[in-house]
Amino acid sequence: MEKRVCGDIEKLVLKAVEQTSEAILITDSSGTIVYANKAMEEVSGYSAEYLKGKKPGVLKNEGSHAPDFYRELWSTVKAGRKWHGRLLNRRKDGTLYTLDTDITPVKEPDGTITHFISVRRDITRELQLEKQLIESQKLESLGLLAGQIAHDFNNMLTIILGSVELVLEDTKEGTISHKLLSETLKTARHTAELTKQLLVFARRQETRPKKSCANDLIKEAELILKRLLAKNIDFRMELQRDLWDADLEATQFQQVIMNLAINAQDAMPDGGAMRLATGNVTAGEDSPWPIPPGDYVLVELKDTGTGIPREILDRVFDPFFTTKPKGKGTGLGLSIVYGIVKQHKGEVLVDSAPGKGTSFRLFFPRSK
Ligand SMILES: Nc1ncnc2c1ncn2[C@@H]1O[C@H](COP(=O)(O)OP(=O)(O)O)[C@@H](O)[C@H]1O
Ligand SMILES: [Mg+2]
Repeated sequence: MEKRVCGDIEKLVLKAVEQTSEAILITDSSGTIVYANKAMEEVSGYSAEYLKGKKPGVLKNEGSHAPDFYRELWSTVKAGRKWHGRLLNRRKDGTLYTLDTDITPVKEPDGTITHFISVRRDITRELQLEKQLIESQKLESLGLLAGQIAHDFNNMLTIILGSVELVLEDTKEGTISHKLLSETLKTARHTAELTKQLLVFARRQETRPKKSCANDLIKEAELILKRLLAKNIDFRMELQRDLWDADLEATQFQQVIMNLAINAQDAMPDGGAMRLATGNVTAGEDSPWPIPPGDYVLVELKDTGTGIPREILDRVFDPFFTTKPKGKGTGLGLSIVYGIVKQHKGEVLVDSAPGKGTSFRLFFPRSK
């Protein structure tokens, strides 16, 4: 009777091991695989049949870990201790995956090791998320740093500006001193303006967006835009009639457009076409854009330039990321765009491929 229950439990344990979502591998004491469960087959792409009789090294990705790493692993488990760590392996199809792994020696009552059981959990996806988080934290901390510097700068500039203004009042017009001081004042004001931009980027400065029509702000900036752009660029605007209002801070909004336009121009050294369009869009469940559902004012700037290679597409919004030569690029343009749009509770999407041009889409929530 007792024997039967025991047999049932053995079967149950076997079934559980076979079907659990953790990938399980059992080797004998020499490290030869004697068993692999379903999850192991799924995560590695190899069948249990194939794995049986082989060494776990078949799962390994050459070069991922130093030889010392495996040596340490083996000496730990052979000494009868448990090993825990992350293994970067290669699937049958060649893709890499990371497994959070526990390797435990299975012992006889007298302490001799008969087998090793390794329980592994695929954490590839978690690691990707972790990396994204680190990226966004990096962005955040750079912003903070820039903000602190800009803040101190601003305080010092206030003193400089104030003092120069006072001295200037006491200086006779037409004198060299007056001229030099006027220049100093102009430069200091310009510097203050730049500092303000840095503060915006660092999301420190308070913004007061107003219910406005993006078309009006674009038309206001049109003249400067046209003057800014080279002759060999065919610039067109397609502004939607009856565009919804959005809560926009005029100067910042226009700065965003300028930054995007300058980048588009830089991407078309031999000329090309640039299109600035606006539209009303409602994002829902089936919307083509990964943005929260709702009504938005869409502002799109499209160019026929070089396009952005896939490998750097994720990095273009990083502060100080630039592919331009020293003195030309600061790498701040798009991070400022990002900062401003986020401050407006909006979204930015970029769509680009080498040779296909680039499109930046900005979504500003419709005013309530
Ligand atoms: N319209 C565009 N076409 C092609 N590449 C672009 C475009 N806009 C931005 N980029 C890429 O993104 C990088 C970062 O842009 P940005 O933050 O404005 O800094 P910068 O213009 O100073 O390099 C650019 O160096 C460029 O490689
Ligand atoms: Mg730029």
